[in-house]
Amino acid sequence: MNRPIEIVPSVLPADFSRLGEECVALEAAGVDRIQWDVMDGNFVPNLTFGPDVIASCREHVDVMFEAHLMVANPDELLHTYIDAGCEMVIVHVETTPHLHRTLGRIRDLGCSPAAALNPSTHLDSVAHVLDMLDMVLVMTVNPGFGGQAYIQSMEPKVSALQGLISEGGYDVDIEVDGGISSSTISGAATAGANVLVSGSALYKYSEGLEHGVRDLRRIATEAQSG
Ligand code: DX5
Repeated sequence: MNRPIEIVPSVLPADFSRLGEECVALEAAGVDRIQWDVMDGNFVPNLTFGPDVIASCREHVDVMFEAHLMVANPDELLHTYIDAGCEMVIVHVETTPHLHRTLGRIRDLGCSPAAALNPSTHLDSVAHVLDMLDMVLVMTVNPGFGGQAYIQSMEPKVSALQGLISEGGYDVDIEVDGGISSSTISGAATAGANVLVSGSALYKYSEGLEHGVRDLRRIATEAQSG
């Protein structure tokens, strides 16, 4: 049984001077959730959104917010991003030595736990906590910036993860993030990803966001059903 395709924009390419309006436009365009790429200039060489920025946008839309914590110290920041209105928190397995405890804390705070893996990180790092996760994010770029090239060699990793999830009967989504466009989304969906993050490619649609969301969803759905 295929898991529903979800199209998730990264707001990295959005107009930061109008983020509230940009969230309204994304919700109107039919996105399934909004991803906030939180970067601390330490784990990744870029600096982006604090919790207050996200909180200021929260009241403008109802769509789910997920915080992609590309930060060196996620355990100290969990509650601030949850309090800001994020319903899901994605922590990088490379940033916490006690992942089992971190995921339990996210759940205890009433939030949905997810884990992200950098391209070189093995699936073994989440194999023993799949029962604690609602989603695993397989990065298809090295984190830090939008507009990078899709790393196609991550597709076998996505398929292997799908195998682990189905063998164990876990209820876990697979997300991919980085370089997802009309030409790469089919490979990712065919490999097993059902939650697809797009930033620059989505914003590049000359016909607008709604057309872009529809187009990406159509391609991914067709690929998923083979
Ligand atoms: C990487 C970021 C990007 C962003 C999407 O640190 O997480 O992957 O979300 O970027 P695009 O879709 O422009 O590659």
